[in-house]
Amino acid sequence: MSNLYLYNIGQIVTRPGSTAQHGAEAMRQIGVIEGPAAIIVRQGKIAFVGTMLEAEQVDHTDCVAYDAQGGCVLPGFVDSHTHLIFGGYREDEFQWRLAGDSYMSIMERGGGIANTMKATRSATAEELTQRASAHLDAMLSMGVTTVEAKSGYGMELDTEIKQLEVIRTLQEQHPIDLYPTFMGAHDTPPEYKGCSTDFIHYLCDTVMPVVVERGLAECCDIFTEKGVFDHEQTRILLTRAKELGLKVKMHADEIVSFGGAELAAELGCLSADHLLQISDKGIQALAQSDTVATCLPCTAFSLGEKYAPARRMIDAGCAVAVASDLNPGSCFSSSIPLMFALATIYMGMTVEEAVTALTLNGAAAIGRADQIGSIEVGKAGDLALLRFPSYKFLSYHFGVNLVRATIKAGTVYENKLVTPTPSV
Ligand code: NIG
Ligand code: FE
Repeated sequence: MSNLYLYNIGQIVTRPGSTAQHGAEAMRQIGVIEGPAAIIVRQGKIAFVGTMLEAEQVDHTDCVAYDAQGGCVLPGFVDSHTHLIFGGYREDEFQWRLAGDSYMSIMERGGGIANTMKATRSATAEELTQRASAHLDAMLSMGVTTVEAKSGYGMELDTEIKQLEVIRTLQEQHPIDLYPTFMGAHDTPPEYKGCSTDFIHYLCDTVMPVVVERGLAECCDIFTEKGVFDHEQTRILLTRAKELGLKVKMHADEIVSFGGAELAAELGCLSADHLLQISDKGIQALAQSDTVATCLPCTAFSLGEKYAPARRMIDAGCAVAVASDLNPGSCFSSSIPLMFALATIYMGMTVEEAVTALTLNGAAAIGRADQIGSIEVGKAGDLALLRFPSYKFLSYHFGVNLVRATIKAGTVYENKLVTPTPSV
């Protein structure tokens, strides 16, 4: 772990705080320090943040110096919702959807998640690791330093464990920090066709205890949706998950308005995710709770659906996060530039709100807002250094990776200025 003196910074966005930021006023207070400024990272943690003048009073002879060349520095981005581990691809289904087919009708015909399930069951752990690692490389190059990763393409004991073990291997091998989520309740597998409640009990009694005993997950997620899992099944699974010491979250109100946001607030979920079809009551419930409202704009974009009402949710007092939902079906992209563009141009968020949504509120959505998501002494030395002098370029210079280097726990990973894409 190297000690770092990052100097000649044009602007620092500190995004202070250690909890989820609710509402427009809090989400816009991103704590800008104008340069020339500097940051010192020691033993992986931020030890100093301030102007270069202030930095001159601080000894940094033990640090490797790195010239920020006037670029803006933000907290490393937190992608708080991904389905990173999967076998196979679904490029044909994507073309069917372009031709008018719907996500749910493809799923009902045995495609969709079930298609990826088959490929993931038959993939080796090495294949899954290699592919996911290449995606993490791409994410690192876009300034991402922490990624939530779900299982859920096994839907039976061995493959769920295989996916979670791949996440653990990546945590050891890759610079990005991972937050492992068990999502066995992603769909009902063919073995339990027509018996989804029996499947939920199988997850509760046979799979989750092994996951917990082996320390393979920190959280449990479920696809609560009309025709997938209902409220009662969600309650059974997430209550058991909490009993076993897991945090909980939900895919909620994605395809139809289903009262998912209200249930997520009631069950004390870390986050309710998607929310394209959230009701006014759902917005009120999230605004009054600690549950983060996570928007996944690349999924809405890819499905050609309307976006989650982020503006209304923020104005009502919700803590909104933005994440990618990277997966081979509804959203095969983890693009930070696209997320900034969609959040600001289509979802009505200010760039300051989008910055909070991808840093501190993303951290809160995985229960880590006290460790990451802001540039403050004692927090992790996780930073995104831009090639431009202001955070405002993140929406203005749209669709382009602006990251010069990503700093993870004080180690600098320079971006080669192309976003690598896995070739496997
Ligand atoms: O978040 N909605 C459920 N799960 C994923 C999609 C997974 C897939 O299609 O493979 C999502 O959109
Ligand atoms: Fe998802």
